[in-house]
Amino acid sequence: MGEIIDGRQVAAEVIESVKAATSVLEATASVTPGLAVIIVGDDPASHAYVGAKSRMAKECGFKSVQHTLPAETTQAELANLVETLNGDQSIHGILVQLPLPKHLNCDPIIQSILPEKDVDGLHVVNAGKVATGDLDGGLVSCTPAGAMVFVRRVHGDDLSGLNAVVIGRSNLFGKPMSALLLAANATVTTAHSRTRDLPAVCRNADILVAAVGRAEMVKADWIKPGATVIDVGINRVPAPEKGEGKSRLVGDVAFEDARQVAGVITPVPGGVGPMTIAMLMANTVKAAYRKAGVPPPKF
Ligand code: GUN
Repeated sequence: MGEIIDGRQVAAEVIESVKAATSVLEATASVTPGLAVIIVGDDPASHAYVGAKSRMAKECGFKSVQHTLPAETTQAELANLVETLNGDQSIHGILVQLPLPKHLNCDPIIQSILPEKDVDGLHVVNAGKVATGDLDGGLVSCTPAGAMVFVRRVHGDDLSGLNAVVIGRSNLFGKPMSALLLAANATVTTAHSRTRDLPAVCRNADILVAAVGRAEMVKADWIKPGATVIDVGINRVPAPEKGEGKSRLVGDVAFEDARQVAGVITPVPGGVGPMTIAMLMANTVKAAYRKAGVPPPKF
């Protein structure tokens, strides 16, 4: 029976070190980290995520600013807001919550954020640094950074000799996750919807990372006995047992069965999810340290 990683506990530890780093920066450089979060439109799930990010920023002792823009905001209005925040000396991190409403083109907006303020790690400069193995010079995308905290806790910093399989090749997660595992010396396979015999590929993994967005797709017999399984999926499925119209969250891994085979496994909810917000806070304090000319701590 696999050990379950408590993501809420690990995230709380990261948050404690962010708070400590914030106090040190204030005491030594009189700088308060500032995070600006932009949300456009009325999507309830996005509002819930953004609210959690803004609250956590306050809890960490940051200046926390939330810009809530109407769904009909124009491309130029959004671009102007990013420009203003780029020039605001009290703001060290800018996050534009995705997805944006359909009439807005997200890429030019993301690429207009100053790379040193891109706490989501989505700017090509930051993505490029991760791709070239420069993990200390830029800002690493929060969800893969959080997943790597789990991997390091189980296997240490050096993954030499271990096979890692990442299912998913998105810019937001799969590509940076594969790059981080590779930088830690794992032998990495990036699998995706066109991969032939995905179960066989997965059975080769000492570290299996699932980010496909399909509820409970990864079955127990896809998992090598004793493997580390990191589940990045968040899927809402009907839960009639909880009452009519009710739903529950599940990951991309069939958790109860997979747990019998895995060595270590992350649950959904309470696994990778809480780590994403914690790493966003870590990136913001890191950006503030760099702006102040002080070497940032590692998280
Ligand atoms: N929407 C879902 N996840 C994310 C994320 O990590 N960053 C941003 N900006 N939007 C998201």
